[in-house]
Amino acid sequence: MNRQTQYWAPERLDSGLIEAASALAAGGVVAFPTETVYGLGGDARSTEAVERIFAAKGRPSDNPLIVHLADAAGLDGLAAGVSSLERKLMAAFWPGPLTFVLPALPGAVSPRVTAGLDTVAVRVPAHETARRLIAAAGCPIAAPSANRSGRPSPTLARHVLDDLDGRIDGVLDGGPTGVGLESTVVRVMGDVVHVLRPGGVTAEQLRAAAGPDVRVESGSGDVGDVGEAAREVAPSGDAGAAGADDGSAAETAPRSPGVKYTHYAPQGEMVLVTGDAAPMRATVQSAADAARARGLSVGILACAEHAGDYRADAVLVLGSRAEPGEAAQTLYAALRECDDRGLGYIVAEGYPEDGIGAALMNRLRKAAGGHVLQA
Ligand code: TXA
Ligand code: MG
Repeated sequence: MNRQTQYWAPERLDSGLIEAASALAAGGVVAFPTETVYGLGGDARSTEAVERIFAAKGRPSDNPLIVHLADAAGLDGLAAGVSSLERKLMAAFWPGPLTFVLPALPGAVSPRVTAGLDTVAVRVPAHETARRLIAAAGCPIAAPSANRSGRPSPTLARHVLDDLDGRIDGVLDGGPTGVGLESTVVRVMGDVVHVLRPGGVTAEQLRAAAGPDVRVESGSGDVGDVGEAAREVAPSGDAGAAGADDGSAAETAPRSPGVKYTHYAPQGEMVLVTGDAAPMRATVQSAADAARARGLSVGILACAEHAGDYRADAVLVLGSRAEPGEAAQTLYAALRECDDRGLGYIVAEGYPEDGIGAALMNRLRKAAGGHVLQA
């Protein structure tokens, strides 16, 4: 794989969009900004294009991709049926960071997109550049996050090039993405909304939009993946299973093939510390000190309010504690920086789990490989 990768700078957006759209129409693979993270797009109908996506990422081929549309009208040719509750949520959150797993219309997209499942994941991104690109390409665009498999999702065009330069046809630079974490993936079954992966649309927002008759069931936090897996819910199975908070559901609910893969984690060992602010800070510092005593180069991922008090080789600020959305925006870049600095041990502060905090903590737990210290 040795491709000339075009870089379309923000100043060249208009001509870049035309070139990128024609590359897509010709079966090429192009990275583009969305409001969540950068995606690596290809024509979802073309098995050759989709295979290029998997090859560029080094992604296991049995992990399905999200299909991106310019607007909800594109659903007609893709999904075998959309319920009134799904329509309601689409009206509330599209364009935006919400992905629906829907029954697939056979033959609508390459079987490589759905990894052979009878469902297809679909979303309409809110980012202007993404929507213009998809509209100009004139086809549904399959797009996973534009990182090498096992690396954090890219929130800057530079991250895409760091991972994929020479492996893809181009990248449209739209500056930093907004949310910084991937979309929320849901499967609606009857009047239950199962959150397979927490993300940019929060459970609270889903509840408010769905109304009092609808249940929103969140997964256990290790269900939806950061990038490379999500649990599939059996259409005829126990509707409550996917949202159960304990591990028991795992035995009864089928999972999507991707769930067996590890997702990104920094190269260094990482631990996440949870608990109230005061004991958490003490535990973060003592974990860092213990690792330093072992001769490791240690980094701490901290909120702005606490960062100045910590002693470590690197203290990376994720944003204000009062604004977990800031930490969501900066987390992936910070994890990449941990690798760039060659940190051998990383201690991360936990955040409250409401709102976007749920998705943030899901990604932090994943990055820590489930290594959590309760202070
Ligand atoms: O924000 C996002 O969703 C970004 C941007 C580029 O749109 N995309 C993204 O794609 O995060 P990716 O491939 O990194 O994650 C897609 C997730 C995976 O967890 C995959 O297993 C799940 O969606 N998925 C895709 N199709 C599915 C299906 N038919 N059933 C269950 N899970 C599915
Ligand atoms: Mg991903």
